[in-house]
Amino acid sequence: MGFFKLTIRDVPLDNQTVLVRVDYNLPLNAKGQISDDLRIRASLPTLEYLLKKGCKIVLISHLGRPEGRDKKLSLEPVAERLATLIHRDVRFIDETIGDKAYQVVKRAPKNSIIMFENLRFYKEEEADDLDFAKKIAKASGARYFVQDGFGVVHRAHASTHAITLCIPSVAGLLLEKEYTTITTAMQSPKKPLVAVMGGAKVSDKIPLIERFVQLADTIIVGGALSNTFLAHKGVPVGKSLVEPDQYSEIDHIYKKVTEKGESLDDFIVLPVDVAVGPSTASNARRRVVGLGDVESEDDILDIGDRSIDQMVEIVKGAGTVIWNGTLGYAEKPAWAHGSARLALALASQPETTSIIGGGDTADFALKWDGHGGKSFTHVSTGGGASLELMSGDKLPGVESLLDAPRSK
Ligand code: 3PG
Repeated sequence: MGFFKLTIRDVPLDNQTVLVRVDYNLPLNAKGQISDDLRIRASLPTLEYLLKKGCKIVLISHLGRPEGRDKKLSLEPVAERLATLIHRDVRFIDETIGDKAYQVVKRAPKNSIIMFENLRFYKEEEADDLDFAKKIAKASGARYFVQDGFGVVHRAHASTHAITLCIPSVAGLLLEKEYTTITTAMQSPKKPLVAVMGGAKVSDKIPLIERFVQLADTIIVGGALSNTFLAHKGVPVGKSLVEPDQYSEIDHIYKKVTEKGESLDDFIVLPVDVAVGPSTASNARRRVVGLGDVESEDDILDIGDRSIDQMVEIVKGAGTVIWNGTLGYAEKPAWAHGSARLALALASQPETTSIIGGGDTADFALKWDGHGGKSFTHVSTGGGASLELMSGDKLPGVESLLDAPRSK
């Protein structure tokens, strides 16, 4: 399936200055240090391609959600990490617009990399302000804009939308890879397609579950998400997180499954037992109980052992598995059994295409894997972006790029 937008391979980039939007919104630990640099590593193929073409690269990104300038969210340490990973200097400028930035870029030699300061130090970024975008374009002096920040293309911001009205705009290699891998797995997967859904809230996942009702062969539901499904069935869930206002949505989903001619219990697979504890505290004891045995003081924090076996069995027969949302409170090992067994099942069957949605699921899978996600076919760098893309939404930061000719 060809990508429907022009990419850096389609335009004459030799010796040009290019403005590249990356998503270097990296997780930071309590000390403010970078705790994972997947998003930088994933952007390297695009940067290396541009360097081979003799380009001067101006990078823009956001980091966190600052209110105005905030030293703790400066991109300077990110520029240093990039320099280490790409084995060359990265010139950081503490501005994003204006003459200082313009002069630095202008004087920089070809093949250099310059990184501007955090876009979100300016309120105009999230306001999708056209004047701000024009100022970024001017400071960069760029001939082309390259969108490679897959994690942020679900936002219509100055650096994902307005900027494309200022400079001819094409996709980078990461964006193209994320988009085509995810849409191919959704629309023309190796069958059977098994969707594994977890995470905290049903309300966030309804559009995606509805889409999987159309496209998947089986949907496995775990995590806090399954509490609402179980409570809807009348199963006691103690003091677990539940969203009763989503019951009508669940009724609607069940109606669609029945209309599809599927048996409800085989198509939407819920846990048959659960792991409970008094709270999410790390030293809490994991106790596995059958449905019906959850007590009023219990919190369901993971799927149970029989549910894990059932899930692994279903996944064994899958051509494609798309996993979105951890199956328990996976930050703590006591409640990560379900997620870890799923990760192990996927890692042990490389013939199955395994797509891991971004955000918490990717964080867990990467930590479990320890080798940059090599155990899986694809670990997405986008949380909200992958959720929206899988749900079938249009992404403003992709839609605004130049269209590829239809024959591409
Ligand atoms: C992300 O981490 O999901 C993206 O970088 C987008 O960040 P945001 O949710 O703050 O817009």
